[in-house]
Amino acid sequence: MKKRDFISLLDFSPEELSHLIERAQHLKVLHQSGKSHQTLHGKTAIMLMELSSTRTRVAFEAGLHHLGGHIINLFNSSSQIGRGEPIEDTAQVLSGMTDLIIIRTLEHERVEQFARHADIPVVNAMTNRLHPCQLLADIQTFVEHRGPIEGKKVAFIGDGYNMCHSYINAARQWNFELKIASPEGYLPDADLLGSTNNAALVETPREAVEDADLVVTDVWSSMGHEGEESSRNSVFADYQVNEALLDHARDEVLFMHCLPAHRGEEVNGTIMSDPRSVVFPEAHNRLHSQKALLEFLLVGG
Ligand code: CP
Repeated sequence: MKKRDFISLLDFSPEELSHLIERAQHLKVLHQSGKSHQTLHGKTAIMLMELSSTRTRVAFEAGLHHLGGHIINLFNSSSQIGRGEPIEDTAQVLSGMTDLIIIRTLEHERVEQFARHADIPVVNAMTNRLHPCQLLADIQTFVEHRGPIEGKKVAFIGDGYNMCHSYINAARQWNFELKIASPEGYLPDADLLGSTNNAALVETPREAVEDADLVVTDVWSSMGHEGEESSRNSVFADYQVNEALLDHARDEVLFMHCLPAHRGEEVNGTIMSDPRSVVFPEAHNRLHSQKALLEFLLVGG
């Protein structure tokens, strides 16, 4: 089987992505009914998280455990990576001992470098540019609650950073309409935005959410932007998602946030528990969608 990587949603075809979502739902049913599903017995993955993580880490660790495999956590502080061993050497060594590499890092190029030099699949567990694993859970959650997302209207409110970029790729792959409201200076990458007709900038959050089926936001200061909180909080002040904003969307709108959330900033204190919010089912689906991803990369679809 030729190795595949998951650095971006664009690494998979729309058909493969849809298969992953279906499989994630099936794995969820198996998990919830307590049925054994050890399809990855004997497989070992390396996880290198250079940034904090709760959901992504736990979903991969618990997920591979459920599937009968094993995760080894590598840390820069206690491995030779932190002492400067080149990525090309590390990637080749790990390829001879394990089956898959999962990396979270601020430098997107580091993940691409690992993928170029590893003979085993490499998974992007979030970089400064993209967070494709999150999108698998988001789409799974939408489909679970509302059916196919194709042709639906999605609003992204806030920083044109890695989550926004991933939604642009998702709009292209799942063929939905994405409207993005971001302040000047915090717009998504222009080339990425220009790569699809499915995504467009609008002037205001109100314009973005008009008739939306799904409204999404993320923190105003992501990892890597520490120290900018004060200036960003001023710039993004009009970009908070709250009940009044959601009232401009369709009645059956869903609200998602990849979490962690900062109440009083990109969300108010109550929207997370609004009936339109599915942020916790969305977080739980990280488990099932990442299990489907591991299966796909390790034993095929
Ligand atoms: N949404 C997300 O990736 O969560 P973690 O940073 O906790 O992994």
